[in-house]
Amino acid sequence: MPAQYVQYKRIKFPCGYNSVESLQVAENEFQVRDDDIFNVTYPKSGTVWMIEILSLILNEGNPVLNQSVLNSLRAPWFTTQLGLETAHDLPSPRLLTCHLPVQIFPKAFFRSKAKVVYTLRDPRDVLVSYYHFSKMCIPFGEPKSFNHFFESFLNGEVLFGSWFDHITGWLKLKGKSNIFFITYERLQQDLRGSVEHLCRFLGKELDEAAITSVVQNASFEAMQKNNMCNSTMLPKEVMDQEKGTFLRKGICGDWKTHFTVAQSECFDRAYQEKMQDLKEIFPWQPG
Ligand code: A3P
Repeated sequence: MPAQYVQYKRIKFPCGYNSVESLQVAENEFQVRDDDIFNVTYPKSGTVWMIEILSLILNEGNPVLNQSVLNSLRAPWFTTQLGLETAHDLPSPRLLTCHLPVQIFPKAFFRSKAKVVYTLRDPRDVLVSYYHFSKMCIPFGEPKSFNHFFESFLNGEVLFGSWFDHITGWLKLKGKSNIFFITYERLQQDLRGSVEHLCRFLGKELDEAAITSVVQNASFEAMQKNNMCNSTMLPKEVMDQEKGTFLRKGICGDWKTHFTVAQSECFDRAYQEKMQDLKEIFPWQPG
């Protein structure tokens, strides 16, 4: 946990961009349009990947926008002051991004026809990715050690709160026709099929060539080369590229090279305890 953060309704947010005022506006006053598409995640679950996929789908596979406009301008983080202004000026249909837990998501969404795409990932890989990201992303605060971060993550003492609460909160809305759940693992396993599924959810008809373009331009390699989404354009005070790489490994199961046997057992116990009421079958299922 960094020394400084913004706290809003018991959830801690990185400071610098977020403020209590901007979060209040996002929750209570944000004007949701019926054709808005929200890209929602817990951190390190594939947020930026999904921005690329959705942005490409909305542009019928044409990569020009993805290659020429920063992702934060294409899919603004509307919980920040700057993101709110960008979102306000965007033409419809808007693509919007956030890590908000469901209980503080814009109230107006629940009275609208807007859509949410919620991406979730094996929490052990989220933890590892979050640990490395916190080393390079200054507002997140450098972790004292992997073990310290491991414990903070399990206790929900990290920015954006507990992974377990975020996931169980959002999954309560499963079954609603305007909310689409997908896993990072599914994207990895079958990106083309996932894109086709997303197109159906969004009511977009893309031909084979357009879908191929989405898949190619949203590949890890293509994104690594694209400065509009690989985070290299961020200032050093925000993202220290000497301390890591945002598009780090992009694989499933990296936790196996980080967790000790004891940590793995500890994680499984915590997972079973915190997720016991959930009937959902995930591609990972620790324990
Ligand atoms: P790793 O740190 O495990 O590599 P977020 O955007 O939510 O912060 O998530 C970042 C994670 O998604 C990073 O994971 C990053 O490498 C991964 N990622 C981003 N784009 C990807 C892609 N096209 N294919 C696979 N993984 C991707």
